[in-house]
Amino acid sequence: MTVKSKVQRFLVELGGARALGPAGVEIRQHEPMSRHTTMKAGGEADLLVVPQDVEGLRRVMVAAQRAGLPVMILGGSNVIVQDGGIPGVVVKLSRLNHIRPAGADRIEAEAGVLLPRLARAAAKAGLSGLEFAIGIPGTVGGSIVMNAGTREGELAPRIESVTLMRPDGDVVTLGREELRFRYRHADLPHGCVVSARFTLQPAPPAGIDATMTRMLGERNATQPLHSPSAGCVFKNPPGDSAGRLIEAAGLKGHRIGDAQVSERHANFIINRGHAQAGDILTLIRHVGRQVEQRFGVTLELEVKIVGRAARSRPAPRSSHRGAGGSGGGRGTAAHHGALTTRVVEV
Ligand code: EPU
Repeated sequence: MTVKSKVQRFLVELGGARALGPAGVEIRQHEPMSRHTTMKAGGEADLLVVPQDVEGLRRVMVAAQRAGLPVMILGGSNVIVQDGGIPGVVVKLSRLNHIRPAGADRIEAEAGVLLPRLARAAAKAGLSGLEFAIGIPGTVGGSIVMNAGTREGELAPRIESVTLMRPDGDVVTLGREELRFRYRHADLPHGCVVSARFTLQPAPPAGIDATMTRMLGERNATQPLHSPSAGCVFKNPPGDSAGRLIEAAGLKGHRIGDAQVSERHANFIINRGHAQAGDILTLIRHVGRQVEQRFGVTLELEVKIVGRAARSRPAPRSSHRGAGGSGGGRGTAAHHGALTTRVVEV
């Protein structure tokens, strides 16, 4: 079956391509991912779907499986979508956005809830433990997959259980110990996070608020929060900081096209306007190589690189890629091979 006929089959399974079909799913074809990522870059998804509820999500998963289309769940932060876009179905869970109290020291949130909103809801309910999440611009689902965190804490110890939907639409709930969380990693089975339950500690809301205000202030002072970015590009190597190493390699401000190593925090790459994913990936490779050459440290990516490299790109203008240069070359697809993460199929 061609991609076009698979897409057709998917739409028929869902009950038609109307903007808000009877299946409770908003559908858009050829949707630019620059509209749905914090990096504000990236090519088009064949299909972007926004289920209105868990039942809508189930229909999407089943229809995609029947049509033989890959599915990618996209929160939009911590990800760089390549310029060739994403084949198949991209699912955005922004409508799965409910937060529910679950007893005296527990709170439940759906996958599309933004972490800062959850942190504020927990504070209002007098529950401490998610203060660190106030500065993380990700969704609950994406943050569980990544075991998101800061120097002040990470999600894993607060998670009691995670409810997932398998590709066939079945729902399963797993306890924290079954998910084997590590630094910025969880072992999740194939499927999509639907919701999670967090166990927290009762505490006075005023104290929780004060901690969050302090953390936000620190983050504002050290990170480029007002420029589009995907958050920290690299994981911290054991015992050190990627940002410190990149700064020490003299790369703050280094620019390729509209992609630039932040002057404020060197582990961020910001989009100065119209950065292509190709520019961003070329810059990431350059940074990784420089740090390796200067300090013998291999930095591991924290951001996920997804989608297809652009099929035809201008030839790289490598002579303009020196330190401090601007308007440098745009790499070809081959340049990005080592960085590419496979498209996540569920
Ligand atoms: N540093 C530099 N130059 C820089 C950036 C940092 O020298 O350009 C130095 C700082 O002076 C400090 C050390 O590196 O001595 C650590 O910096 P920072 O406190 O900013 O923390 P980080 O390790 O760079 C981590 C998380 C951030 C999180 C902050 C704050 C990772 C990869 N990064 O950054 O998370 O916001 O702590 O808690 O774990 C993210 O995951 O997307 C992210 C931004």
